[in-house]
Parts: sequence; structure tokens; C-alpha cells
Amino acid sequence: MDLAEESQVAELANFAGTTDWLINSAGVLYTAERGPEKSIRNFDPDFYLHNMRINALPTLLLAKHFNRRLGREGTSVFATISARVGSIDDNRLGGWTSYRSSKAALNMALKNISIEWSRTAGNVAVVALHPGTTDTALSEPFQAAVKPEKLFSPKKTAGLLVDVIAGLAPEQSGQFLAYDGTQIPW
Ligand SMILES: NC(=O)c1ccc[n+]([C@@H]2O[C@H](COP(=O)([O-])OP(=O)(O)OC[C@H]3O[C@@H](n4cnc5c(N)ncnc54)[C@H](OP(=O)(O)O)[C@@H]3O)[C@@H](O)[C@H]2O)c1
Repeated sequence: MDLAEESQVAELANFAGTTDWLINSAGVLYTAERGPEKSIRNFDPDFYLHNMRINALPTLLLAKHFNRRLGREGTSVFATISARVGSIDDNRLGGWTSYRSSKAALNMALKNISIEWSRTAGNVAVVALHPGTTDTALSEPFQAAVKPEKLFSPKKTAGLLVDVIAGLAPEQSGQFLAYDGTQIPW
């Protein structure tokens, strides 16, 4: 499915019914034509909008259509895999403008949803998650500089993130959390 198409997200919500954990792991860093920008001189509006469409928009559509479908028993979770590079506070290197901007937009969307749902759905923990550098197609072209012990297998990352999610309490809604459960500044 295309998570950036509202009609398809609405269909998914109808199909899924009551949902205890919703984890959005769709994302994009590069396309066949373009990689993340090293300089603003490489900025391309279409690539920027593509990043926004895939990295930021789906979470808003999912929140809209799963609003009334998240479970009301115990703690429910609405999580999206973000990226540490989407942190404005943590940005010391610059570059990757489209990806960083789209993840920052995603983070604001999650924070906003967490505030609204703290009033209307107090049992839901809304969080942004950083998976750590993980050996997938997305990171593959950028792995050369990563120390082997810092490159996680998808299985390891999934296990770590499930542990973080399983330990969430509604009071943690609105946090940006790394794979080890530590908080990342927005
Ligand atoms: N890998 C890392 O080191 C790393 C680090 C930090 C953050 N992240 C984040 O982790 C998340 C998962 O990335 P990954 O490493 O697993 O990358 P990946 O292997 O490239 O997976 C990305 C997935 O997103 C799906 N996708 C893209 N556009 C979509 C759309 N419009 N509708 C539905 N699905 C769509 C892709 O589906 P198709 O295959 O069908 O296109 C693919 O399954 C991303 O948000 C990424 O930014 C990854």
C-alpha cells in the first residue's frame, strides 16, 4: 500500500479494527535519482517534497484514521520510526536537508498528536523512535564510516525497539526515544 495516500490509510484502518500497537516504519533517504544533500547547493524541491511525503505525511494520516481505533484497555502505542538526525537540538553536522527537515516535521507531528491525545485518549503513548544505524537498503550506501559494532542487524533493532515499546507508559507520551530507551532532545 501507499501510506501517503489517504484513501488507502482509511481502508487500512477499517481493515485493522481495534489496534493496540501501531508502528509506522516507512521511510526514505534517497531515490534512484538523488541522494541526501551534502550542501544546500544540491537542494531539489521535488526531492524535498518526496521526503516530506514519505517521512512526515503518513503519520498524520495514520493518526487521523486510527484515532478512534487505538485500544482503550491498558497502554496503547502509536509510534513512528524517526531518526536522530531529525533532532534540531542534536544537529551538529548539517547536510541531509530534505531528510532532516522531513524527520523534524514528523517529530513535530508526533508531539502535537501526543498533546491532543493526552486530553482525549490518555492511555495512548505517542512516541518517535530512533532505531540506531541498521543494516537495511536505506543505510547501505552510508555504512562505510560506521563501526561494525554500531551497525545493527534488522532483527537486533526490531528486538530493541519492541522492548522499548513494551515498557512504555502513557506518561511517556510525547517523547523521542532511542533504541536503548534513552531520551533524545527534540
Ligand atoms: N536503517 C537505518 O540505519 C535507519 C536509521 C535511522 C532511521 N531509520 C528509519 O527507519 C525507518 C525504516 O527504514 P529502513 O532502514 O527499514 O529502510 P528500508 O529498508 O528502505 O525500508 C523502508 C520501507 O518503507 C517503505 N515505504 C516507502 N515509501 C512507502 C509508502 N509510500 N507507503 C508504504 N511504505 C513505504 C518501503 O517499502 P517498499 O520497499 O515497498 O518501497 C520499505 O519497506 C525509516 O523511517 C528510516 O528513516 C533507519
